[in-house]
Formats: sequence, structure tokens, C-alpha cells
Amino acid sequence: MSEARDSFVRHLAQTSESPIGLEIDHAQGSWLYATDGRRYLDLIAGIGVSALGHGHPEVIAAIEQQARRHLHVMVYGEYVIETQAKMAARVASLLPAALDRVYLTNSGAEAIEGALKTARKYTGRSALVAFEGAYHGDTMGALALAGNEAFRAPFGPLPGPVRHLAYGDARALDAIDEQVAAVVIEPVQAEGGVRIPGVEFMAALRGRCDETGAILIFDEVLTGFGRTGRLFAFEHYHIVPDMVVLAKALGGGMPLGAFCASGKLVGTLSRNPPLGHITTFGGHPVSCAAGLAALDFIINQRLWERAETIGERLRRRLEGFIGPEVLAVRGIGLLIGIEFREAARARQFVAETIARGVVINWTLNAERVVRIAPPLTISEEELDFAVEAMVEALATLRGGR
Ligand SMILES: Cc1ncc(COP(=O)(O)O)c(C=O)c1O
Repeated sequence: MSEARDSFVRHLAQTSESPIGLEIDHAQGSWLYATDGRRYLDLIAGIGVSALGHGHPEVIAAIEQQARRHLHVMVYGEYVIETQAKMAARVASLLPAALDRVYLTNSGAEAIEGALKTARKYTGRSALVAFEGAYHGDTMGALALAGNEAFRAPFGPLPGPVRHLAYGDARALDAIDEQVAAVVIEPVQAEGGVRIPGVEFMAALRGRCDETGAILIFDEVLTGFGRTGRLFAFEHYHIVPDMVVLAKALGGGMPLGAFCASGKLVGTLSRNPPLGHITTFGGHPVSCAAGLAALDFIINQRLWERAETIGERLRRRLEGFIGPEVLAVRGIGLLIGIEFREAARARQFVAETIARGVVINWTLNAERVVRIAPPLTISEEELDFAVEAMVEALATLRGGR
């Protein structure tokens, strides 16, 4: 056992009894290179982070340049830091005009917490609405929204009250009333098993929030920046949320999150009391520099269009898997789920695919669903390689090999 693996096992706090356990030497493009000399095609992109793949030269150059200029100099929001200010302006320029303020954080969960605090303070209400199957992160507030009781139960009492509604069911929306501060929703549930609600549901949700004054928060942590075939997934639904939460691809591989809203809404955080929501590292200059370089690339190359075309082609090919083991294949852009009839088969499929040099994984709240979310820059040849590996893995399940 290598020294690193020994320390990993003995000293790194584990969150799973069966981690994937690849020992990474380096990563480049769509590939992870392991210390045993094997390489693996990365079809999960660090769970949606590496939209440009790994080691993108423009991102690396931006990191080096900012690191030489300065690292951390002051807690969030006190000094004018060019890369932070540029990042806020850049994100605001990509969102609808009403969402012109960007609060930068370290992670997705932290951004969710900030969004919840903002909504509660602005409305003076406490109740929250979330959806069955939802995943918004693992801090207390974000966890309270989680749509899977098994993950919430051991950690209570969690902030509340939270009402969990059926995802995609307009009839459930009557539960949103004048007590509700915020409704938090993923425009596509990834951990929930790649579930895509209808346009009518989202229109009804927007309408219900308007009627009751509840703040509508879209969690685009995973869907943002092109993954679903639009720059932001809310564009599929032709509605504008009151807040958008971002992270993952935002930092170009560095830790960065954000919640974005109108000045009126976010302004509530600077009074009564002032400094009511602060963070030391939020919007770290190196993360912002990396994120800006990644964003430039995504915008210049219009990577969301690429995600839509190659995602659709990939989904069609995977639909050929539907049969005795596979119940359904669904997806939007480069976020695709393969739904097995049995969780054990899904797990076996993941293991067989990884053994063939392609990394995929299952989803937290829908253990029968395997998720595919590669870098948006993945090539057609690499996708051919991935499909071939998955065809072989499925054949093994069917006893063909
Ligand atoms: C939709 C969604 N929201 C929030 C989060 C939490 O983000 P983080 O892990 O950066 O705290 C995740 C992470 O997977 C996510 O997928």
C-alpha cells in the first residue's frame, strides 16, 4: 500500500465505507491518471465542477498570475479586490437584469445558507419549502431542505419548519402560503435521479411565489454554466427566480460559490445588524481568477450549445441500454441518468464501468440511477470510448461476458 493510501485509510476522515479509492497522480483534459499507471475517463467531472476538464491552460495561467499578485488580503467585502469585483460583475452580466448583486462564498452549501438567511430576514417569515429528492448541501440549513429523510434524521433538530413537496407536481404548490420565506428548488434534480420537471410546473411555482410573497430560490449549483444545454437551467422554463445559487463550475476547479439577487433583497444583509452575514474566505481572489478564466472560455466557446448537441447524441445512444436491467434513460444536455430496475445492478454497472477505465457514479437520493456528467469539453472520440466501456459493462451484467 502506498504511503498516501495508508494515510487516506488511517487518517483522512471517511464518509463512505466503500470509497472509489482511485489514487490520482495527475489529471489532464477529460482524463484522470492514477498512480498505478492506468488512466480513467472522467464522466462525472468532480461532480459537475470540471466543466472545462482538468488542467485547462487558461485557468492555470490565471491562477498563477493571481497567486503572484496576492492571495487572501482581507475578509469578504471590506477591500476592493479587482478579481472579486470583476467576478461579481461578470456573473451579474450573465443573469437577468433584476439579479444584479452577487454574494461570493466558498461552497454551494454556504451559498444556500446565505440565501436562506437573506430570504428570512427580508420577508420576516420563517417557514421554508423544499422538494422530495432534493439535495442542497450538508450544512444544517441546507440539510434541513434535503428531500431524503434518511440523511436528515440522524442530525436533527434541523432549522425549520420545512415543508417538503412532491417535485414537479403543481397540485402540491398550495402548501406555499404567506408563512413561507423561501422556496428552494433545483431546476433539474441531479442527486434526486436526474429528474426534469415540466415547464407548466415551474410557471405555476413562479405564480404561487408571486401570490404569496415567498422568495423563489433556484439552486443552480450543479446545473449552472452550460451543463443542461443552456447557460443557466432556469432558461428552459422561461421564468426568472428571485435568487440564483451557484457553485461547482463557477470556480473553474477552485472552491467558489455565490448567491445572486436584487440589491433590494441582498441589501438586507448590510443593516440591522450590519455585518450580519460575513465570511473570511468567500470569493477568494485565486478562486475568482480561475472562475473568470473558465467563464470566459465557456462564453467564448458557447459550451452550453455543445452540451446540448453532444448530450442529446449520447442520450440517444444510451437509450439502447433500455431492457431487462435498465428501465429508463433521461437527461438534459450533459447531465444524463440511467435508471436501473435494481440498486444492486446500478452499483455493479458502476463498478464494471470503472474497471474498464471510465468513471461514472450513482446518485445520492435515487440509488437505482447512475449519473453521467462529463466535462463539457469532452470529445466525440472520448464519448465513443465511454459508450463502448458501458456496453461491455452492461453485457457483463447480462451474463454476456
Ligand atoms: C444542487 C446542489 N446544491 C448544493 C450542493 C452543495 O454544494 P457544496 O458541496 O459545494 O457545498 C450540491 C453539491 O453536490 C448540489 O449538487
